[in-house]
Amino acid sequence: MNFLSTGYFNLDELNELIESAMRFKNGHTERPLEGRSVALVFFNPSLRTRASMQVGIFELGGNAVILEPGSTSWTLEHREGVVMDGNKTEHLKEFVRVLERYVSAIGVRTFAELNDWGAERADPILNAFARYANVPVINLESAMHHPCQAMADMMTIHEKLGNEKKKVLLTWAWHPKPLPMAVPNSFALAAAQFGHDIRIAHPRGYELDEELIREVKHFAAESGGSMEITHDLEAAYDGVDVVYSKSWGGKDFYGNADADIAHRGPFREQWIVDEQKMGLTNDAIFMHCLPVRRNVIVKDSVIDGPRSVVINEAENRLHVQKAMLTKLLR
Ligand code: CP
Repeated sequence: MNFLSTGYFNLDELNELIESAMRFKNGHTERPLEGRSVALVFFNPSLRTRASMQVGIFELGGNAVILEPGSTSWTLEHREGVVMDGNKTEHLKEFVRVLERYVSAIGVRTFAELNDWGAERADPILNAFARYANVPVINLESAMHHPCQAMADMMTIHEKLGNEKKKVLLTWAWHPKPLPMAVPNSFALAAAQFGHDIRIAHPRGYELDEELIREVKHFAAESGGSMEITHDLEAAYDGVDVVYSKSWGGKDFYGNADADIAHRGPFREQWIVDEQKMGLTNDAIFMHCLPVRRNVIVKDSVIDGPRSVVINEAENRLHVQKAMLTKLLR
């Protein structure tokens, strides 16, 4: 069993993960990884994911093996049938098949490069890991999904606001450069699975993937929630219980970052999360996956304010990942 997207799990299974995560948070100890190792493969930088996975594996009795292709391990080719006479030293086939002789699971972080939307939306590197591996593969943020973050987000909403469905705003924010859309994708998907009423706000040009939106609508219909998309920023904040802010790049601009940067220019001041907008909400909590650029994405007064839950949200990464590792490897 892999953990690639929350979309592969039903609501009962996701609720069980959160209940298990709450038990870990409340002091439950268990050592299902005693004597076993888990590889964590990072193609990109990380603070929260790397530290929380490493600590979680240790607390479950296991050992984390951290590998950084192109830095602390060889550069990796993932495409099938290529003549490897360029700068890639090892193929993912051997990398995975060797690694799984040592470890019980493989976690992978591989961001979108924002070059080719058509190719990257298929998550080629993560899926190559899943195809070659006979041990569980855990998505630590791919081009399209960040399920560990989404589960920590759902746990935080549950903890702070209770079990009933909430009005949840996912709002785009200006950022000096285009960013991947894994976090908004996974947040929208999980919020729909948990039956929340999700409102997605962004300027025109920052539409999420159409297939992802169809999936979000499907889960919302199934769970009794709803999904709406708006470009009206003031209306977006009206009466919501949760404000989740995240910047992402426009899929039509993949391969042309300069065009994206020019397009987003006018939205800089307008799309920041500030006290005036938070005042339109139902005393909403403020959420962000971190790292966050202060006074670009969100004003200091909001992120440092009493309704900000960003540190708790980051802590919950540890607990949900311990729950997920226990489910996969017990
Ligand atoms: N939210 C998150 O995944 O943080 P890192 O990029 O620091 O791991």
